[in-house]
Amino acid sequence: MSVLDRFGQKLLFTFDPETAHSLSIAALRCGLPVAGRPIRDERLKVGLCGLDFPNPLGMAAGYDKNAEVPDALLGLGFGFAEVGTVTPLPQAGNPKPRIFRLTADEAVINRLGFNNEGHAAAEKRLAARKGRPGIVGVNIGANKDSADRIGDYESGVSRFAAYASYLTVNISSPNTPGLRNMQAREQLGELLSRVVAARAAASAQPPVFLKIAPDLVEAELEDIAAEVAGNRVDGVIVSNTTISRPPLRSGDTARETGGLSGRPLFDRSTIALARMRKLLGPDMAIIGVGGVDSADTALEKIRAGADLVQLYTGMIYAGPALPGRIVAGMARFAETERLKSIRDLRDSHLDRWASKPLS
Ligand code: FNR
Repeated sequence: MSVLDRFGQKLLFTFDPETAHSLSIAALRCGLPVAGRPIRDERLKVGLCGLDFPNPLGMAAGYDKNAEVPDALLGLGFGFAEVGTVTPLPQAGNPKPRIFRLTADEAVINRLGFNNEGHAAAEKRLAARKGRPGIVGVNIGANKDSADRIGDYESGVSRFAAYASYLTVNISSPNTPGLRNMQAREQLGELLSRVVAARAAASAQPPVFLKIAPDLVEAELEDIAAEVAGNRVDGVIVSNTTISRPPLRSGDTARETGGLSGRPLFDRSTIALARMRKLLGPDMAIIGVGGVDSADTALEKIRAGADLVQLYTGMIYAGPALPGRIVAGMARFAETERLKSIRDLRDSHLDRWASKPLS
């Protein structure tokens, strides 16, 4: 980390996590020069689901919940940016405080509960950038008080199909009561068939990915894989935050309710990713998320079966230069190892990760 980065992060850490987040969005919105020029390298390009990703590293959902800064994120060096989760109606989320830093663990616990400005606000911003280059996915969810949660996802598909490079159906947030029950087979089958039908009826047909939790047992992963394949969903994002608590150094804060992200999530989310790759076979798109904070951890997700990777918490600790550093590190690796394409690494540690126990 450069002296300037270190200073910037130290300054942000003097604020509570939610204020720090708002300040970082404001800095990106103002176009502050927070990082160097993004790296372009032929060997890092990934073609997936009809999209040409300039590199395999993306910004995960939850940072730019209201689609305020997708282009600024791409400017930091990310190969793609996922905005949201957006719900049909604006929603305040849970009472504050609701984001906690576990600094000794380089982790975060959040129980935000889909705070966002709703579909209309995000649509307006995405419509204003329509036609610009860059892969921007839209992550859709359901309102907490909705009488028809599946209807909320259908309306997200209809609303954003024309603006999204891809859509993510997020049913894995631990902070909306009952949401993760939609991962159970019967509900999931109905959700996915209705989502795919809504896409067929929309004015454009972007790929649809399903984002899942890392807290599923093998039988649940099998059910999800069967429904994903059976409904012709295009891919899976593994994973959201975990409600589990591996051994942590951060004392009382580690006992806060919510989803844990960052370094301690790496193993669990990578095991779930590898198991999903085994269940879905080599051709389904999989995006690996959870604990990526370096070129090494990003490359390991690819070795475990990921086509693409995303991060969020790593950037809270390392600052906005992190994506550029990771992409440069991947390019150096491809050069040293004389890889033709970063894709050649995929699955090389699949068995190793898939055979590890989940807890
Ligand atoms: C998230 N994440 C998230 N995911 C999602 O699909 N929709 C969302 O709205 C959010 N919101 C959110 C807020 C905060 C503060 C955090 C830290 C995370 C989950 C995120 O996209 C990712 O799946 C996990 O955080 C794991 O990746 P990292 O953070 O370990 O790189």
